[in-house]
Amino acid sequence: PKDCPHLPEGFDFTDPDLLQARIPYPEFARMRQTAPVWWCAQRAGISGFQDEGYWAVTRHADVKHVSTHPEVFSSNTNTAVIRFNESISRDQIEVQKLIMLNMDPPEHTRVRQIVQRGFTPRAVRSLENALRSRARSIVETALAGAKDDGSFDFVTNIAVELPLQAIAELIGVPQEDRAKIFDWSNKMAAYDDPEYAITEEIGAEAAMEIVSYSMNLAAARKECPAKDIVSQLVAAGDEGNLSNDEFGFFVILLAVAGNETTRNAISHGMHAFLTHPEQWELYKRDRPETAAEEIVRWATPVVSFQRTATQDVELGGQQIKKGDRVGLFYSSANNDPEVFEAPEQFNITRDPNPHLGFGGGGPHFCLGKSLAVMEINLIFNAIADVLPDLRLSGDPRRLRSAWLNGIKELQVTHG
Ligand code: HEM
Repeated sequence: PKDCPHLPEGFDFTDPDLLQARIPYPEFARMRQTAPVWWCAQRAGISGFQDEGYWAVTRHADVKHVSTHPEVFSSNTNTAVIRFNESISRDQIEVQKLIMLNMDPPEHTRVRQIVQRGFTPRAVRSLENALRSRARSIVETALAGAKDDGSFDFVTNIAVELPLQAIAELIGVPQEDRAKIFDWSNKMAAYDDPEYAITEEIGAEAAMEIVSYSMNLAAARKECPAKDIVSQLVAAGDEGNLSNDEFGFFVILLAVAGNETTRNAISHGMHAFLTHPEQWELYKRDRPETAAEEIVRWATPVVSFQRTATQDVELGGQQIKKGDRVGLFYSSANNDPEVFEAPEQFNITRDPNPHLGFGGGGPHFCLGKSLAVMEINLIFNAIADVLPDLRLSGDPRRLRSAWLNGIKELQVTHG
């Protein structure tokens, strides 16, 4: 296929340097108009793959179509890659298949039915009660630890904390082990960025530590069940249960899928509020329920995931061949004017808001959506109560990552 005419020679919208500066919205806009499904040759692979090229899908309707046709657009091993170190003694590709994001029906359906037990509305409500006071104390601690001039880094002091606590709470990690899990999660996610001086090996090592810690947790709960989600997932239910192995790989997915995403939604949300003061005033006054979804649309923490065609198929007027990679650009879909009125406006009362930040609605639709929305609500409510006069004291520093729209530092000042 011919390379996309709207992208200049050498242009790569998955280039971390480009993401660091800005999301490539103008390029997406041109592609949506005249090249909505287009071949991107020899550009850095999305979601961690280095490969020969892929079809970039940029329109909202097409991203939805691909997401909801898993029989044609497979997730098998191709959605997300987590690197493990060699000690795993299994083929790396085989290992990727143990992560549900990389499974197709019927395996995916079986695992999803089991893990859904941990994400029922009741389970999320009970987590909300546990997390409400945590959200408040995270914000109060950030304020107490601020420098004399009232300044602090929003990311490390606020955004990082609640998602980590939420996952630890969800899977029942005892308080004394949380620091360990937090350290591994951070290492695993950060090695993309040279500034962290974390090598790929350290990241892979940390991923392994999480898997073996979780497998031990699963074995212990099987032996001696408690009233937590681990016990529920490993105990036999109507749909079966997860093996210790499967549980280990589920936790590793949660450590990435639930942490990094929510952290960046919170950081981008704060930045958006502080650069749109009228929206912050509105939020503080009315606390609209619709705010969290607009924050996720605006931030689109997951820029893209990918699929592989299982057969020759037409999409957006293009002939896609069996085996071709297809990249779903959620960040483009979430700015598609066919669907959103004035998409360039941050509008916390936007309703309806059919954004695709949590995926395009197929079988892999984000399992943690209601948990993420709840966390975003809790933290911004606490910030509005405790730090109503927050202001920006520097530009955000962006993460170098090919798939995550991340902020790693955001200096703010209170008072
Ligand atoms: C899947 C985004 C928070 C757990 C996904 C997908 C996206 C996404 C784009 C893939 C959807 C698809 O392929 O159709 C986000 C964003 C979040 C967030 C933007 C925060 C703002 C969370 C949280 C958890 C979580 C808090 C759990 C604690 C998962 C899991 C999957 C997933 C387990 C895989 C589901 C499957 O394969 O069936 N998420 N997520 N996510 N997410 Fe989230």
